[in-house]
Amino acid sequence: MNIVVFSAHAYDKRFLNEANQSEVAPFNLVFHDVGLSMETVAFAQGSDAVCIFVNDVANGPVIEALYKLGVKGIFLRCAGFNNVDLEMAQQLGLLVARVPAYAPEAVAEHTVALMMTLNRNTHRAYNRVREGNFTLNGLLGMTLHGKTVGIIGTGKIGLAVAKIMKGFGCHILGFDPAPSAEFLAIGEMLELESLLKRSDIVTLHCPLFEHNRHLINSERLALMKPGAMLINTSRGALIDTRAVIAGLKSRRLGALAIDVYEQESALFFHDRSSEIIDDDIFQRLMTFPNVLVTGHQGFFTNEALREIADVTFQNLNCFAKGTNCPNAVLPT
Ligand code: NAI
Repeated sequence: MNIVVFSAHAYDKRFLNEANQSEVAPFNLVFHDVGLSMETVAFAQGSDAVCIFVNDVANGPVIEALYKLGVKGIFLRCAGFNNVDLEMAQQLGLLVARVPAYAPEAVAEHTVALMMTLNRNTHRAYNRVREGNFTLNGLLGMTLHGKTVGIIGTGKIGLAVAKIMKGFGCHILGFDPAPSAEFLAIGEMLELESLLKRSDIVTLHCPLFEHNRHLINSERLALMKPGAMLINTSRGALIDTRAVIAGLKSRRLGALAIDVYEQESALFFHDRSSEIIDDDIFQRLMTFPNVLVTGHQGFFTNEALREIADVTFQNLNCFAKGTNCPNAVLPT
């Protein structure tokens, strides 16, 4: 079977090649570093399936084009599937499968790293000390023990964050339409508005859907405690970035850390250090001393990459054998 892998970086090639095990006929992997889009879909010519990541575009027209090229499956190397037009895939009979969980603790640990860094300004201290500047002005943080952390989306990653923050001695709040018993054992479930009003730190861990795009908008920011910290390691469009910039400028929002950004597909996962970045909203974010951005690296651990590769081949083997795929996003 021929599988075209889009958005393939050196680390993807390494882990996928190591995990390439077929139970039927060998998988021939063809790697492209470009993302899937209408401009690049022709690379899928002659393939049985495509393997994509978070910023690849599998919208209606792209899926139609894949179908016309004979592609019968879309295999996501990630949990989120907001970039795939599921209705179109179902209509055309394409299998869409994902990796539902790959070390949720890895994302949770990165989330906490962002909180800790932003709170105690270790990123700024690192640079200062290297320059021989040992002053403390501007590095003041808060003691996390006793603070309230509001977790929006209390699934696998949200629960892992809750457990870590509970260990810090924080009070844990959660908002989730389907809370788990495990979360209820350590946190208090609230309506979103109450969570926003009571939390010193709000952290987002729900999937992105059309109905919760810009979940954090100017009205919801106005409900947050003055000076509260907002963290997003889930999906960029959960936050209205313009509203957040206004919140930072008015000093109402205390600090922001993001590992995901609404327009990240034009920036992340590539070296842009010699380019002019045209995204003025992103560049405005970069000017705030109380904003910390990482380029979608929450998942980026050895363990998670190995799990992603292994589960991707389990999914591909179901596809090759024509058996039921437990990680199918749509019923098969
Ligand atoms: P999960 O499916 O275990 O949990 C998601 C939870 O969100 C569920 O409990 C669900 O009921 C809840 N939920 C759904 N809609 C909601 C809403 N409107 N408001 C509040 N809660 C809602 O998913 P998991 O594994 O915890 O991942 C969460 C998200 O993290 C993924 O959808 C993905 O967007 C993001 N992610 C980010 C990564 C990174 O590298 N930064 C890596 C992996 C995932």
